[in-house]
Amino acid sequence: MSNATLYPVPEEFARNALIDQDTYQRLYQASIDDPEQFWAEQAKRIDWMRPFKKVKQTSFDDHNVSIKWYLGGHLNVSANCLDRHLEQRSEQTAIIWEADEPGQARHITYRELHRDVCRFANALKHQGVAQGDVVTLYMPMIPEAAIAMLACSRIGAIHSVVFAGFSPEALAGRILDGRSNVVITADEGLRGGRSTPLKANVDEALTHADIKTVDKVIVVRHTGAEIPWHDHRDRDYAELMAEADDFCPPEPMDSEDPLFILYTSGSTGKPKGILHTTGGYLTYAALTHQYVFDYKDSEVFWCTADIGWITGHTYTIYGPLANGGTTVMFEGVPNYPDVTRMARVIDTHKINILYTAPTAIRAMMAMGDAAMAGADGSSLRLLGSVGEPINPEAWNWYYHTVGKGRCPIVDTWWQTETGATLMTPLPGATPLKPGSAACPFFGVQPALVDNEGNILQGAAEGNLVLLDSWPGQARSIFRDHERFVDTYFRTFKGTYFTGDGARRDEDGYYWITGRVDDVLNVSGHRMGTAEVESALVSHKDVAEAAVVGMPHDLKGQGIYVYVTLNDGIEASESLRQALRQWVRHEIGPIATPDVIQWAPGLPKTRSGKIMRRILRKIAVAEYDGLGDISTLADPGVVEHLINEHKSMT
Ligand code: WT7
Repeated sequence: MSNATLYPVPEEFARNALIDQDTYQRLYQASIDDPEQFWAEQAKRIDWMRPFKKVKQTSFDDHNVSIKWYLGGHLNVSANCLDRHLEQRSEQTAIIWEADEPGQARHITYRELHRDVCRFANALKHQGVAQGDVVTLYMPMIPEAAIAMLACSRIGAIHSVVFAGFSPEALAGRILDGRSNVVITADEGLRGGRSTPLKANVDEALTHADIKTVDKVIVVRHTGAEIPWHDHRDRDYAELMAEADDFCPPEPMDSEDPLFILYTSGSTGKPKGILHTTGGYLTYAALTHQYVFDYKDSEVFWCTADIGWITGHTYTIYGPLANGGTTVMFEGVPNYPDVTRMARVIDTHKINILYTAPTAIRAMMAMGDAAMAGADGSSLRLLGSVGEPINPEAWNWYYHTVGKGRCPIVDTWWQTETGATLMTPLPGATPLKPGSAACPFFGVQPALVDNEGNILQGAAEGNLVLLDSWPGQARSIFRDHERFVDTYFRTFKGTYFTGDGARRDEDGYYWITGRVDDVLNVSGHRMGTAEVESALVSHKDVAEAAVVGMPHDLKGQGIYVYVTLNDGIEASESLRQALRQWVRHEIGPIATPDVIQWAPGLPKTRSGKIMRRILRKIAVAEYDGLGDISTLADPGVVEHLINEHKSMT
């Protein structure tokens, strides 16, 4: 793959790019040689209310993991995203909202957004929300979601956005973990013409989990549907806004005050509340948004990610708005009403930069050229990909059919924990190799280590770690710093372990090979095998379950489940359906198993650890490469599983 086709930077693109190849090399070197100097310089793009005293104080030593940037500095995120743009661009569109149904877009200027954020910030204060409180958002992709996030940041409340596709059970767990007192939601969400009862889900979460801590539920009337209403707890968003004052002073926040928590899956246990703070995150989000996407004033930027994920936080909201950009929020899905939807949005809003996920690209590609048929697409200048490795076939289709061979593709590798992009080509600087995330961004020091932690040199494949901190790095797991240290800093001492494997070729390009832990990536959504397993075993008929990933044409990875039923329970097709439903109910539709295989027993070591390696092989019918199975407590189960798998296919 290292000698894969090389796509040079198109000349016309290079001429106008913010960063060319020489500049990249020079700045990258400077960022490594003198991080303090480099990052002090970059922080000038942010308005500080009080200057910071020290740029960087970070330690990856597992006895003392501590990550602090821009120490002593004061700033406010919403002021950086709104107030400071008012002088120059109050009438510029900040957010273009594209509704689920075509033809119902809304344009919101910086002036309007500022006013609404101020009002809602005041409303939150009236409802008793104070600095440091955790506010849970369970919202569709509507402007009110952006308003709520920015309003929290204005008063120093910590937002915790829960993807609106998660079930009431999953929502309840996150509300409890965050000890949140306030939930903001909508009557219903709309995606692909189908509604989700968000308000009813919130009620169910609060009732079932018997959550007493939440005393306010603020509801945006979006579809206007009939919803259950509890006067003591529920508040109408529009009523609060009507009563609220038009101006709310932005709270000066310390650089290291929490900005948000966002739950993500790990290889064990329940989801982790990844904690991001204020100064470093915003600086890094804004800087990467500008340079990775070569973003220029007045361009229209469309990141298709939902605000329920980190990509939506950083590149739908904070990055573009900090840069005074125009960002698109899309409520719907790429294939509704039909596969031409993305192209229609691109043409309608004259999108210059499109940032989406391989799973969406593959879904369009599956319809041949229909997705772009009849579309103009000439506004596009740059394309981006994120969330999972992009297979060269999808890359080529994206490049030629969507980008018409004119637009570079930035394949950005990063994680919830990294806050923003760590590795990517820079579009004006880096010749592209389809499927490679190319090179580290400024200040980022990736390395590959073998399983013993030895650093590998030159062309090599290994575990991907980072040797030093960058400003956008997560600071902790909310109220569980020990778990943070354990998860990321104990595997390979002195480094941050990403959980990913990667290869570096002779040209120094990185190729992400995927997770090396028990984390799945389904349609770009991160899913812990342990979470799906624990959902399954909570079903009354299930004794045990083991979950592995399997290759999937559209989703990248599908969910393959081995289930051992309780004694006396009969395996049946209807039970299989019931279990699929059960997982959807416990976690959400994105966790729906693709295949359920009955397993009278699971392959376990004598100490009781499930050998997923074997299960992964059987799932793809690689019966020969099972490796050493002599350490199993009962090697006989393997043959059983193979026979059952053969009988299914
Ligand atoms: C995991 C992080 C990045 C924000 C959205 C996902 C995988 C992400 C790429 C890419 C190959 C990628 C990794 C990573 N991943 N981007 N460009 N190429 N793999 O954030 O939910 O925290 O997931 O997504 O495995 O560890 P996330």
